[in-house]
Amino acid sequence: MSEKIFIFDSTLRDGEQTPGARLNREEKLELARQLARLGVDIIEAGFPISSPGELKAVQEIARQVKGPVICALARAVKGDIDAAWEAIKEAERPRLHVFLGASDIHMKYKLRKDPELLLEQAVEAVKYARRFADDVEYSPEDATRAREEYLCRVIEGAIKAGATVINIPDTVGYAVPEEFGALIRRLREKVPGAEKVIFSVHCHNDLGLAVANSLAAIENGARQVECNINGIGERAGNAALEEIVVALRIRQDHYPYHTDINFGEIYRTSRLVSKLTGIRIPVNKAVVGINAFAHSSGIHQDGVLKDKRTYEIIDADLIGGKAAQMFLTARSGRHAVKNQLQQLGYTLTEEQLESLYHRFVELADKKKEIFPEDLEALVFDHIFAAEPVYRLDYLQTVSGSRSIPSAVIRLKCADDSIIQEVAVGSGPIDAAYNAINKIVGLNIKLENYQLNAVTKGRDALGEVAVKISYQNKTILGRGTSTDIVEASVKAYLDGVNKLLKINGYNNYNNG
Ligand code: KIV
Ligand code: ZN
Repeated sequence: MSEKIFIFDSTLRDGEQTPGARLNREEKLELARQLARLGVDIIEAGFPISSPGELKAVQEIARQVKGPVICALARAVKGDIDAAWEAIKEAERPRLHVFLGASDIHMKYKLRKDPELLLEQAVEAVKYARRFADDVEYSPEDATRAREEYLCRVIEGAIKAGATVINIPDTVGYAVPEEFGALIRRLREKVPGAEKVIFSVHCHNDLGLAVANSLAAIENGARQVECNINGIGERAGNAALEEIVVALRIRQDHYPYHTDINFGEIYRTSRLVSKLTGIRIPVNKAVVGINAFAHSSGIHQDGVLKDKRTYEIIDADLIGGKAAQMFLTARSGRHAVKNQLQQLGYTLTEEQLESLYHRFVELADKKKEIFPEDLEALVFDHIFAAEPVYRLDYLQTVSGSRSIPSAVIRLKCADDSIIQEVAVGSGPIDAAYNAINKIVGLNIKLENYQLNAVTKGRDALGEVAVKISYQNKTILGRGTSTDIVEASVKAYLDGVNKLLKINGYNNYNNG
């Protein structure tokens, strides 16, 4: 039997540090459940000291998600460790992850402390964490830019203090594969006690080398890799989970290791992360991009039709992506829709299915082919959307080269009453947003607006993701429609409804 590589997923922690990717508690729980279905070994559920809401979300995951180890991050200080333990103590298998800067740059400019004092702090923090948890991971932050002699002493101290996993972070994505692999090998050979712990790596993608560095580390003895779905994360992101596990699988001839990942869940998990965070998957993204299995040149198409192996090394079926290649039409019945949904991983109640089917028929009237992405968009818009405070009842906009852009918006409130407003703006969407702001009586700011076509073609669904802010809260809203103004209004309203819920405004127009 080949050696196992432990997959440590940090989508909910480092991934969530992606600008604009904040998730609420229900979304985190939903993703954690899907990560468990995917078969990751460890879920890093969050950084509990960062806010009471974060602590609660991690706590909920620890209570409800069974299977993987549930890990929480803490700086090497008591308060952080206390909060992290509070969050995960009810998990089946809790792990505390403690980190502290180890490079001169971090110690001198960020931490502003003497390296020897910081070494002591690291050791004390690991000892303190071990009072609570049997499983403690230690990360010397910015390890790849640290002095090796110092790094070795920190790791030795952490192991003696009881760390069970030593993680080597390439915090700023500075390493290159050969050098990083060699570093892992030397650390394992040189540090006293190294044989007692699992070596892990955590690679950022600033130079586009995160996956290559992770694989090089595995070849040099790392047995845990930290990675995120779709490679999301700080700056250029972290190593992409799906790329690492599929590379290990497809190139088994080169990598004599295995993981316990359920490959058939990869596609679904990737789509879920994209939907929840609002971060689109690039069409050419390795493994999960929509074009990863598309062949457009004649020569390639001809080859694939004769034998798929001519131009395809990954079977879409392996990652649960077969469903992604099929489409439905107006003639598809309930059974076909249900079947497609199941293949995409959505099991709906009969009532939900009935409601979704009506939306499907409406959409199929406007659009010839309904792709899985369209169906998913309907699920998210109509089934998974939070119970709204306001629903869009009517929308009319005016725009043109000689007219002042204006919008009439009519919203239906929770008690079925109707409120209507008219506003002008710099364009029809801006006018519609101004009208909504008038109705809800809040000065909500639009921070970011993104429009994408869900699939190809002139009749494609438009998907809008907006980031709106009010006071200190920033919220992501999403909406889809074949009409981009309507998609924009739905997205804004989705964000407004979430905002009202978070702020505890259950009534409308209460400022
Ligand atoms: O990039 C990094 O160094 C981290 C640590 C907390 C592991 O995310
Ligand atoms: Zn990181």
